[in-house]
Amino acid sequence: MLSSRSKASVTIAVGDREVQGEVIRGARPTPTPTPTPTPTKAGYTMADVKLANSSSKCWSVIDGNVYDLTKWITSHPGGASAILFLCGKDGANAFKAQHENQGRPAMNLSQYLLGPLAP
Ligand code: HEM
Repeated sequence: MLSSRSKASVTIAVGDREVQGEVIRGARPTPTPTPTPTPTKAGYTMADVKLANSSSKCWSVIDGNVYDLTKWITSHPGGASAILFLCGKDGANAFKAQHENQGRPAMNLSQYLLGPLAP
């Protein structure tokens, strides 16, 4: 900001367009940067997964990722029991034993991803 005892003889313009009649006095407020939201959790723990061991909340770990399979239980073409078996634990072996190298089950699985298992 500039100030002087006598009338100003220069005009300082700020901004990127001129609006007739618009005068900005003082500095524009500096926009406060939006704070990055702090994640509430670093990841999902095995303890979280172990609690999700029922048909009303079914989480499973496959290759270090946690999946919420609750909605998939009743949609699985191979039957609900195959999915219920995975709830609350590491389901990688069972999943791979049945579906290793199959595109569709892997694609399907990805839509239920919650996030990585915390180290
Ligand atoms: C998260 C885990 C699983 C996912 C996302 C999944 C997904 C799928 C999908 C998408 C199909 C249909 C495949 C197709 O039409 O090409 C399927 C079929 C099947 N799944 Fe799974 N599956 C999972 C776990 C399992 C497990 C653990 C077993 C066995 C214990 C199993 C047994 C079967 C069987 C037998 C079929 C064939 C059903 C039929 O064609 O009549 N699945 N699964």
